[in-house]
Amino acid sequence: TDYDFGLVGLGVMGRNFILNVADNNFKAFGYDLDQEKVDALKTEGGNLERVNAATDIKTFVNALATPRKIMLLVPAGKIVDAVIENLLPFLAKDDIIIDGGNSFFTDTDRREAYLQEKGIHFFGSGVSGGAKGARKGPSIMPGGNKEAYAHVKPIFEAVSAKYNGEPCVAYLGPKSAGNYVKMVHNGIEYGLMQLTSEIYDILRKAGGLTNDELHTVFDTWNKGRLQSFLVEITAEIFNQKDDKSDGRLVDKILDKAKQKGTGKWTSQNAMDLGIPVPSIDIAVSMREISSLKEERVEADGLYGRPEVAPIAKEDLIAMAEEALYFAFITTYAQGLHQLADASKEYKYELDLSVIAKIWRAGCIIRAGLLADISSAYVENKDLKNLLLAPSFVPKVQKAVPSSRKLVAYAATSGIPMPGLSNSLTYFDAYTSSKLPLNLIQAQRDHFGSHTYERTDVEGIFHTEWGA
Ligand code: 6PG
Repeated sequence: TDYDFGLVGLGVMGRNFILNVADNNFKAFGYDLDQEKVDALKTEGGNLERVNAATDIKTFVNALATPRKIMLLVPAGKIVDAVIENLLPFLAKDDIIIDGGNSFFTDTDRREAYLQEKGIHFFGSGVSGGAKGARKGPSIMPGGNKEAYAHVKPIFEAVSAKYNGEPCVAYLGPKSAGNYVKMVHNGIEYGLMQLTSEIYDILRKAGGLTNDELHTVFDTWNKGRLQSFLVEITAEIFNQKDDKSDGRLVDKILDKAKQKGTGKWTSQNAMDLGIPVPSIDIAVSMREISSLKEERVEADGLYGRPEVAPIAKEDLIAMAEEALYFAFITTYAQGLHQLADASKEYKYELDLSVIAKIWRAGCIIRAGLLADISSAYVENKDLKNLLLAPSFVPKVQKAVPSSRKLVAYAATSGIPMPGLSNSLTYFDAYTSSKLPLNLIQAQRDHFGSHTYERTDVEGIFHTEWGA
């Protein structure tokens, strides 16, 4: 009855997370229906006083000190509800359940309200960083009851990643705030991954870079302003030998990217809020296009490709670096813009400077850039869009010309760069004081009497067009 922390679901994430908790001198107890997983954890934990586990839910719950802190690391969806129902008969008032999975935020709201009635606190808490992160320090994004968070805080702060000693976890807001923030984190993740893949594509197709050269380029970039987890692992990927052939593994991997839905949810919800996130939208669409492999092969045969115009390798690499930097910024800008709006809509009261801070280490989208982003939000908590931050204007300004050149070059050479061009188009549109949407409003009024506003006179107008 004196274990500090309980964990349901001893899969890869669960096992790693619980061992991390134990490393930080908390006593942890795991629960899984699979006896093998339970035994494996007990062995790995080394000492049953420190890490124990059971397949029996009663034993599990009774082993925990009250108020119990029980984290679920199980697949999102019905399983979360099933686990909650199984736990409920054994829980006491003020016990805490933390859902560490990528649950859809409205599910979290529903569960929180349901459990609140029963006196149980529920946290939707995104955990980012994959298996390694869970073991060595993830970024954790909890949302729920603020008072109850005090019980979870010491454990989460101990196990989380640290950026210059600061824990990459913070209470983010009520209800589903944590899950929502994690969802947008994943949307940004999709965007950055798409952008990186486009840069890889142009470097190999137009620059003829070998995997060794690609490794060097990404490795060098990772030492500069593009320093980030995704750039780092990309460099590593180009180096990976294939054990089934003489080549590199990356060349043998089928070009179909799967998805579990969090990126799509980000886009869908951005549409509901009316916030444009085109760099994320296109990343979702590209995973869909990638899965149409057979059709793509057929269409390639029908249409062929334009010739790739010659280009000096060094120029291409320099342009690519600037364009990737530019597009990374615009992608973070879109995701953060969505968070700012969602915060108002769902009353999360998010502090974007805190969110940028807890993304600086541990999570998949961690990047040197996030230190600059968090500073921009520290300077102005109510910043509407990162592109409006004075500290970002010169950074973006300088990188735009190369982004234009690269997108234009890719278009003439028939190399798809939808993430980059969407980022550029988003930038051009967002920074246009005048857009041609006056024409759309005129068309709407013409065919549907939808009315329009004027630039010179206040009011709502309608015209009998052509009369
Ligand atoms: C993280 C990741 C993780 C997510 C994977 C897979 O922050 O650690 O976001 O939570 O599950 O990235 O996502 P897809 O299968 O949708 O690509």
